[in-house]
Amino acid sequence: MNIIWHESEVSKENRQKLKHHKSAIIWFTGLSGAGKSTISSALEKELFSKSIHTYRLDGDNIRHGLNKDLGFKQEDRQENIRRIGEVSKLLVDAGLLTLTAFISPYRTDRDLVRGMVETDEMIEVYVKASLETCEARDPKGLYEKARRGEIKDFTGIDAPYEEPINPEIVLDTNNIGVKESVAIIVEYLQSNGYIG
Ligand code: PPS
Repeated sequence: MNIIWHESEVSKENRQKLKHHKSAIIWFTGLSGAGKSTISSALEKELFSKSIHTYRLDGDNIRHGLNKDLGFKQEDRQENIRRIGEVSKLLVDAGLLTLTAFISPYRTDRDLVRGMVETDEMIEVYVKASLETCEARDPKGLYEKARRGEIKDFTGIDAPYEEPINPEIVLDTNNIGVKESVAIIVEYLQSNGYIG
C-alpha cells in the first residue's frame, strides 16, 4: 500500500551491453558435500579470467550475515532461498552472471526463484552425488555429527532432498571432477549465447 514502483533510467539490457555478456543465475543445488561450493568457486575463477562479471553467493557465507537469523527447519530454508532469489534477481538486473551455491532441497523453493526471473535467466545445475559419496567425503565432519544426533534436520539424514526434475545441467560428481564440471558449464554458457 502506498508503495509505487520506480523505473530506472538505465536498463538491465544497457548494463549487459556494457559488460558484453548476458546476466543470469547459475543455481547450484545438491547435497552437502556434493561439490557445489568447490565447482562454483572454480567456475567463478574461470569466468573472471574471461572478463565475465560474476558474483557468487554461498550458503555457509550468507548464513554468517544476511541470513544469520535462519536455521534449517523447512520454513527457514524456504525463507533462506526466497531471500537469495531476491538478491540474485537484483544481481541479474545489475548485469552480473550470478552463481549461487545452496543445498536448496525443496523443488517448490527452487521453482519460486525460477519464477522471479525471465525464462532464460535461471540455469539450474544439479550437483549430483550419492549420499554414500557425500558421507564418505564428509569435508566438515557434519554427517558424522548428524549420525550421532548432534545435528538435527540434516539434509539426506533426517531432512529431505528433492532432486531437480528437469535441470539445465547435471554434474555427476561421483564420476567427474572439478575441471570437467567447469568445462561443461562454460560450454553450456557459450553455446547458449550467455558469454562469447
Ligand atoms: S539450505 O538447505 O539451502 O537452506 O542450506 P544452505 O543455506 O545451503 O546451508 C547449508 C550449509 O549449512 C551447513 N549445515 C547444514 N546443512 C544441511 N542441513 C543442516 N541441518 C545443516 N546444518 C549446518 C552445511 O555446512 C551446509 O553447507 P554445504 O556447503 O552444503 O556442505
